[in-house]
Amino acid sequence: MGFRDHRGAPLTGADANAVALYETAVCQFNCYVGDPVATVDSAIAQSPDFAMAIALKAYLLLSGMERAPGAQAADLLARLHDLKLNDRERRHAAAIACLIDGAFNRASERLDDILIEDPHDIVALQMGHLLDFYRGDSRNLRDRVARVLAEWSPQMPGYHALLGMHAFGLEETGDYARAEESAHRAIQLNTRDGWAYHAIAHVMEMMGRYEDGAAFLRGNEAGWAPESFFQVHNWWHLALFHLEADQTAEVLKLYDGPIRGGESATVLDMVDASALLWRLKLRGADLGKRWEAIADRWQPLIEDKLYAFNDCHGVMALLGAGRMAEAERSVSIMTETARKQSDNALMSRDVGLPLARALLAFEQGKYAATIDLLRPLRNIAQRFGGSHAQRDLIDLTLLEAADRGGETGLVRALANERLALKPKSPLARRYRERGTKQAA
Ligand SMILES: [Fe+2]
Repeated sequence: MGFRDHRGAPLTGADANAVALYETAVCQFNCYVGDPVATVDSAIAQSPDFAMAIALKAYLLLSGMERAPGAQAADLLARLHDLKLNDRERRHAAAIACLIDGAFNRASERLDDILIEDPHDIVALQMGHLLDFYRGDSRNLRDRVARVLAEWSPQMPGYHALLGMHAFGLEETGDYARAEESAHRAIQLNTRDGWAYHAIAHVMEMMGRYEDGAAFLRGNEAGWAPESFFQVHNWWHLALFHLEADQTAEVLKLYDGPIRGGESATVLDMVDASALLWRLKLRGADLGKRWEAIADRWQPLIEDKLYAFNDCHGVMALLGAGRMAEAERSVSIMTETARKQSDNALMSRDVGLPLARALLAFEQGKYAATIDLLRPLRNIAQRFGGSHAQRDLIDLTLLEAADRGGETGLVRALANERLALKPKSPLARRYRERGTKQAA
């Protein structure tokens, strides 16, 4: 008799112990807690031909948008091709092949095809959700989950993760009240659902509720931080709340502590660190040697043009550390990448490259050029992925360039826009005052 996963899908090559380990890994992935790669490795050691365990490991390696783990995923795909797969597993192998090829949009569609056949395939759903995030597809962040949610019941294992994902999609599409409600329901079902806490942090960020956001994250640290491989990002969100409150010392304490204290070599963590330092730099903060340390981490990845969103954060770090030649080299490799035919080439062409050029111009004090590059970019920047909160860095850089460049009217207009969304924002109020004073 063949084994099935906890949502009823048949599994090739598994035994009971391996299924239990696989389900533990899925739960860890759902909550972003523990070490799902190690757990799924144990499942594979137990049952070497366990197709979905091999597929899950490949997805986990590919989920960080990094070059080296992607190479390991190719070996896993070869192993999948040697197995006698069922239809669902074959579809997963096809989606993994697309991801390895950098065909992010096609992979996204293939994962959706799996979900149309089996709406309970939570691995396909979560991997699709992450891809929607990386592709900046806010509608699908919400609607990929909505397409399956009605097929689930709250008693099914992993239901909390659907609510957490739906919450993030609702937030990215501006439905903040429903987002908050859905995320709280997720947390009620599973207090370790790191993605659900994250969705609430985003709601607070978008609404400018920085005091509520800091209180929420501080008060629920036991839920989202311990043993979480996503915790750096939630610490980053906490740092943004403190930054909005002008508590620079607290931001630096978080940076030196949970955000960067572990000197993580994970690119997602490096992205957060670089983005936080850039925001501090825009405010004129003294950052000491911090740029040097993070630039050292990016330096070996300069040639590694897999994902334009990451590349831009690498450029920030190199510029922050004063390594203009390396930053220019990175931009020139991005220029070559943008000429190719791939999803990332498009992302680079539309957003990554003009943003990287704008960052270079800003660093060189060419504020008019920075403004010219960023203004057409800000409303299409979702094409290179990330969240609204992450892409806010573009608006912040534009505001500061306008201020430094003496473009008073633009400062005032952008501050007005920001205050309409975040009426309590001290930063937006400050820019409004500056725009007003200069105009007087
Ligand atoms: Fe986030």
